[in-house]
Amino acid sequence: MDYSQLKPYINSNKERFLNELLDLLKIPSISAKPEHKPDMEKTAEAVKQRLIEAGADKVEICQTKGYPVVYAEKIIDPAKPTVVVYGHYDVQPADPLNLWDSPPFEPVIKKTEIHPEGAIFARGSCDDKGQMYMHVKAFETMMKTNTLPCNVKFMIEGEEEVGSPSLGPWIIANKEKLKGDIILISDTSIIANDTPSIDAGLRGLAYMEVEVTGPNRDLHSGVYGGAVANPINILCKMIASCHDENNHITIPAFYDDVINYNDADRAEMAKAPFDLNDFKKDLDIAEERGEKGYTTNERTGIRPTLDVNGIWGGYIGEGAKTVLPSKAFAKISMRLVPNQNSHNISEIFAKHFESIAPKSVKVKVTAHHGGEPVLVPINSKGYVSASKAMEEAYGKKPIPTFGGGSIPIVALFKKELGMDSILFGFGLDSDALHSPNEHYGLFNYYKGIETIPLFYKYFTA
Ligand code: BES
Ligand code: MN
Ligand code: MN
Repeated sequence: MDYSQLKPYINSNKERFLNELLDLLKIPSISAKPEHKPDMEKTAEAVKQRLIEAGADKVEICQTKGYPVVYAEKIIDPAKPTVVVYGHYDVQPADPLNLWDSPPFEPVIKKTEIHPEGAIFARGSCDDKGQMYMHVKAFETMMKTNTLPCNVKFMIEGEEEVGSPSLGPWIIANKEKLKGDIILISDTSIIANDTPSIDAGLRGLAYMEVEVTGPNRDLHSGVYGGAVANPINILCKMIASCHDENNHITIPAFYDDVINYNDADRAEMAKAPFDLNDFKKDLDIAEERGEKGYTTNERTGIRPTLDVNGIWGGYIGEGAKTVLPSKAFAKISMRLVPNQNSHNISEIFAKHFESIAPKSVKVKVTAHHGGEPVLVPINSKGYVSASKAMEEAYGKKPIPTFGGGSIPIVALFKKELGMDSILFGFGLDSDALHSPNEHYGLFNYYKGIETIPLFYKYFTA
């Protein structure tokens, strides 16, 4: 096969590749907000059309209980390997809107210190429309240059940002259709544009909601204050007690299943370049904070967490209202690492939270979505192929890293389809995913399109 045509083809289609992505970014496909249902369908339809134009066969919009999955395939020879590409076309809500420098669904290109050649500012530019669309354009490039060396299947879902509730049942019902050798996903980060890396693991997630009830109604905080438990005060105390002075989580049995790495493994991980000053500067913080005895990369990669995502109750309107509230609420998530299990952790969290509540309040704990942590075997053919592809494209061997975020469906791919996933991400942690002013570097977008065909090349070799 003549791979020398890949780069020239990409170079002569750069502008169109970009404009197509910008069009996709204009549709507000926010899966969390029911009013965007028409936008979700519009986006699924757009992805389907682009896959058809790129040269896929059997392109379909597959209905699920929730938002549809876009499926496509190109089978060149059933005897050859099959790469199954996964991505998501849904995005996070753009709120708070007032913190965006330009409207989240009107993409603009601006230069930044980290992206001197420009970055696309829009919700979903990095997570995950931009990264997902690299695969569509890489596929087009292979089709047009006659360099597709194996079979490919696409599975692009619309519910990743809400925990993929419909995709699990869908893959179980479509095992035959999804048969393949490896899952390829671009929905994670690299260390820096001059320091490629590939995740060897992802954290899992257990997401809980707690409700603390004190008196049966909101009370006058002067008439009753001091004599009745304030559920907000109590909730804060309960949350604070979940960490000790070393920022170690205090829930009994919480760490029981955590894999502890030995010094040699940790020394290997510590080789990944990391600049604490840059980290602090990017976030405007005077000091980092985390579990004693671990580095920042370890804290986000191989250690579990417990964080409050939101807390509310009482009076939060303008001005002051003297009230002793009846109820307090919090959303609490725990990031999990191999071999923790989200169901087990949800259960021990609920038990613990109920057990530490004083008699003066009632506590109700419910579980939202969860997902299991994953490990990618770095000696596997898939990982090695991805590594060689990046090495060829970047001129540097990528460093194995541990991604702090979660892609809940990845563990199910392994369990139900028996396939490992390659976390072939090209974004940067500083691209503000889920935050205002999310962006994706033009360098990253084109580099991804250039690198993906090399994965196919090495994986099929
Ligand atoms: N693409 C992210 C996950 C990610 C980002 C992994 C960066 C590694 C590095 C994904 O879209 C995401 O945001 N996942 C959610 C999962 C949740 C909604 C169930 C997460 O991690 O919070
Ligand atoms: Mn994502
Ligand atoms: Mn996300």
